Amino acid sequence: MSFDVEAIRAQFPVLAQSVHGKPLVYLDNAATTQKPQAVIDAIVDFYTTCNSNVHRGAHQLSDNATRRYEKARDDVAAFIHAPHREEVIWTSGTTESINLVANGLGQLLKAGDEVLVTQMEHHANLVTWQQACKRSGATLKVCPMTEDGELDLDAFDALLTDNTRMVAFPHVSNALGTINPIKLLSTKAKEKGAWVLVDGAQGIAHGDVDVADIGCDFYAFSGHKIFAPTGVGVLWGKRSVLEDWPVWQTGGEMIHDVDYDTATWGALPNRLEAGTPNIAGVIGLGAAVNWLKSQDMAALQAHEKSLLDYATEKANAFEGMRIIGKAKHKIGVMSFLFDNAHPADIGFILDKQGVAIRTGDNCAQPLMKRLNIPGTARASFSIYNTHQEIDQLFAALKKAKMMLA
Ligand SMILES: Cc1ncc(COP(=O)(O)O)c(C=O)c1O
Repeated sequence: MSFDVEAIRAQFPVLAQSVHGKPLVYLDNAATTQKPQAVIDAIVDFYTTCNSNVHRGAHQLSDNATRRYEKARDDVAAFIHAPHREEVIWTSGTTESINLVANGLGQLLKAGDEVLVTQMEHHANLVTWQQACKRSGATLKVCPMTEDGELDLDAFDALLTDNTRMVAFPHVSNALGTINPIKLLSTKAKEKGAWVLVDGAQGIAHGDVDVADIGCDFYAFSGHKIFAPTGVGVLWGKRSVLEDWPVWQTGGEMIHDVDYDTATWGALPNRLEAGTPNIAGVIGLGAAVNWLKSQDMAALQAHEKSLLDYATEKANAFEGMRIIGKAKHKIGVMSFLFDNAHPADIGFILDKQGVAIRTGDNCAQPLMKRLNIPGTARASFSIYNTHQEIDQLFAALKKAKMMLA
C-alpha cells in the first residue's frame, strides 16, 4: 500500500471548509481528531436502521444493535491485542476510565500505600489519583522529568518502593509530545508488585498498541482521539485484576441478582458497565479502528513523523521561537512560545488565518508551573495534515509575530 495524503483527506469531510474566508488548517488533533466518512456512516446507519437498546430487548432491532455493539468490542480488543474480549470495558473516555480504576481498585488503597505519577500528567491522571490518595490516606509521589521533557528514569527507580501500590503514567505527553518508555516503566513497577495504569489518550492514535506486550494492568483511552466520536472510550484491564475488584457505579446491566437489601454483580465486562451505554459511540469506535486497520499504519506513522520533523526544522529557523518539549522520541505535537507573546494572542491571530491550534495550559497546570511558563501554543499533527499546511502555519506565525512585536 502506498500513502496518498490527498486520498486520506478526501475521507474527512470537515477538512474541506473555510474559516474566516481561509481554507481550514486543522492542527488541533491532540485535542480531538476529525472523523472519516466511514465512522460518520456507521453512526448514521445505526440510528437509521437499528437504533435500539442492547442486551435486553426481546426483538430483532435489539438483537441487531447488540450484535454491532459486541462486534465493536471484538474489533477494539483485536486492535489493542487484548488477550480477552471481556477485558475491554466501555467508558465515556480516558477520564472516566481512570476514574473507574481510581474509584474501584482505589478502594483497596490505604494509609502507608504509595501512588506514583509523573510531572507530565494531564489533570485526568493527576487529580484523579491525588483525590484517591486523599480519600484513602495513601501518599502521592511525582516522578520528575528533565528540561527536555523526558522522564528521569533514575528518579523513577528511586521513587519505587515496597509500598508502591499503583504507578500511573502517560504513554505520550499531550503537552510535550514525549513518548515514554512504557514497557520499561511497566516492568520496573511490576517488579515492585505495583498495579500499572497507562494513560493512552495520546498514545493510541500514533502507534501499534499491544497491551499484553506493554505489561501494564490497565490501558485507558478515548475514542475521539482516534477518529471516533466523543463520549466513548475504553478501559482495558487484565481480566485477573478486573474480576477481583469492588464496583464503583451500580445500576442496570451490571447486576446478577438483586433483592431489596442486597445485590450481586454480573460477570465481566458488564459488571463494570452500569446503565445504558453509548451504543452509537461504541459502534463508531469500532468503525474507526477498522478504518485505521485498513490503512497502511507504517506509512501513516512515517508521514506523521515527517510532518513533525519538517515543523521542527522550520521552528528552529524561526527567530524567537522556542519549542517546549524536546524529547528524543515524540509524536506530532509541537508546543511552542515566541518572544513575550501570550499563547492566547498567538492562537487568536492564527485562527483569523484559518489555522486551528490549542493554546493554554494543556490541562497540565502543574507541568506549566514546573516549566515556569503560562501555557503554550500547541500545533498537533495527524495523518491528514500536509507539509503545505505546515507552511501555512509558519506564514500565519510570521504574521502573528509582526502583529505582536
Ligand atoms: C494525556 C491525556 N490524558 C487524558 C486526557 C483526557 O481525555 P478525555 O478528555 O477524552 O477523557 C487527555 C485529553 O486531552 C490527554 O491528552
